[in-house]
Amino acid sequence: MPPQTNPPPPAQPPSRALLVAVIDDELVTVRRLTHILKRAGFETVGFSSGLDFMENLHRQPPDIVLLDVHLADADGVDIMQRLHLASPHTEVILITGFASISHAVDATKKGAFHYLEKPFKIEELLAVVFDAVAKIESSKQQEQASESKQPTDQLDGIIGNAPVMRDIFKTIHRVAPVDCNVLILGESGTGKELVARSLHQLSPRSSKPFVSFNCGAFSDDLIANELFGHEKGAFTGAAATKLGLLETASGGTVFLDEIGEMPLTMQIKLLRVLQEYSFLRVGGVKPIDINVRFIAATNRDLEKMVQAGEFRQDFYYRLKVVTIELPPLRKRREDIPALAAHFATKSAKRYGKAVAAPELSPAFLDPLLSYPFLGNVRELEHIIERAIALTNRPTLERQDLPPDMLVSGPMSVNSDEESSFLRDLEKEHILDVYRSTGFNQVQTAKALGISRTTLWRRLHDFNLIPNTPPKSA
Ligand SMILES: Nc1ncnc2c1ncn2[C@@H]1O[C@H](COP(=O)(O)OP(=O)(O)OP(=O)(O)O)[C@@H](O)[C@H]1O
Ligand SMILES: [Mg+2]
Repeated sequence: MPPQTNPPPPAQPPSRALLVAVIDDELVTVRRLTHILKRAGFETVGFSSGLDFMENLHRQPPDIVLLDVHLADADGVDIMQRLHLASPHTEVILITGFASISHAVDATKKGAFHYLEKPFKIEELLAVVFDAVAKIESSKQQEQASESKQPTDQLDGIIGNAPVMRDIFKTIHRVAPVDCNVLILGESGTGKELVARSLHQLSPRSSKPFVSFNCGAFSDDLIANELFGHEKGAFTGAAATKLGLLETASGGTVFLDEIGEMPLTMQIKLLRVLQEYSFLRVGGVKPIDINVRFIAATNRDLEKMVQAGEFRQDFYYRLKVVTIELPPLRKRREDIPALAAHFATKSAKRYGKAVAAPELSPAFLDPLLSYPFLGNVRELEHIIERAIALTNRPTLERQDLPPDMLVSGPMSVNSDEESSFLRDLEKEHILDVYRSTGFNQVQTAKALGISRTTLWRRLHDFNLIPNTPPKSA
């Protein structure tokens, strides 16, 4: 590598800061390259181990990767191929100490964008990187052009073709750009958070933060501290001023998850925020104005809670300017095959499986079509994820389903019109899992794909546990 000089001004500066990952055995090379790229306007991240890089990939897949072919702990070409399974749009530039034409041809055949031979000049490096940027930008434009041609209400990453889901997509498109509060209702695992995020993504606030807050997981004091922050010296241990979520979300969206678990005393405080869009930090005297949009979600029946005096009516009305109600999965069974296929592809990518889109045999799908899905889409996702993790075959078969589903055989439940049959089935299913985990609530909730609070409520309904809710959801 030549002695370091300042990089020339980029021929084509990136239209937004693209993320470039540098992976090289030599830390000094990683530092030098990330420094050069940062000065050229890129976000950068560096690794001196190929395996470290792969492990961190889920955080944010890079747009471009500079990858040493000969790493101590992995083969660069192998890393590139695994990377392409997980992140097909990342452009890889391979770096090697001893290049040859045949190597270069071979690497590009396997999917590398380019091949750089050490030592190379900074200009050479930047020229290749900017070529990759141009390729990324042009394929993005093509993608956008083809997307804008399809007048569809479908949303990114949300699967649903059932009429009720299409109506929901329409509502999302309609209310996303309007700055009103939205209340999302639905059983656990029906996609409430997914909908909240897409409301944010489709709103003018999309470039600002989306901050999620679980109202069920904290005590009053902690909620105030998390949401409002505190002034220095507000209480013992408050050594410095801390910004609350309402302030860190500035300009963006605050997602109040499990709003039904919000204690009454905190409901009053938040009502004031929803009315005045200003608040005091804990221990503070100066009101702070905020510019955020509120979206709340719950799997509880707020109307009933209002009647029972467990939820403030004025707060409820403030939250539900627009309500979106997500149906349980058993009420839109026609979406099960598409959801299952979606999760199969997602999991195959996540686990680096050779087959990018595993097939689902009828023998695998049939039992799913009549399964009660108490944990809704999340439970389906877990079932598929487990199946993909355990199989190496290109098609999922009946034996890839969880054993407890096979033992109880196909269940035919056509409607859940308050049928006691379904309630019994639900109870049986919960108890089976509860028993099989040695009565461990955390593991049971996880296996069922429902929150601990929901599990606790069910167990409580069955008179199986005393009247103390779990400390955290
Ligand atoms: N329509 C959908 N299409 C694709 N994925 C979905 C859909 N609905 C839910 N999911 C997935 O199912 C999982 C559960 O969804 P999410 O966390 O949004 O549910 P939730 O209603 O917030 O559940 P909880 O009440 O337990 O918090 C997530 O991984 C989400 O991505
Ligand atoms: Mg949620």
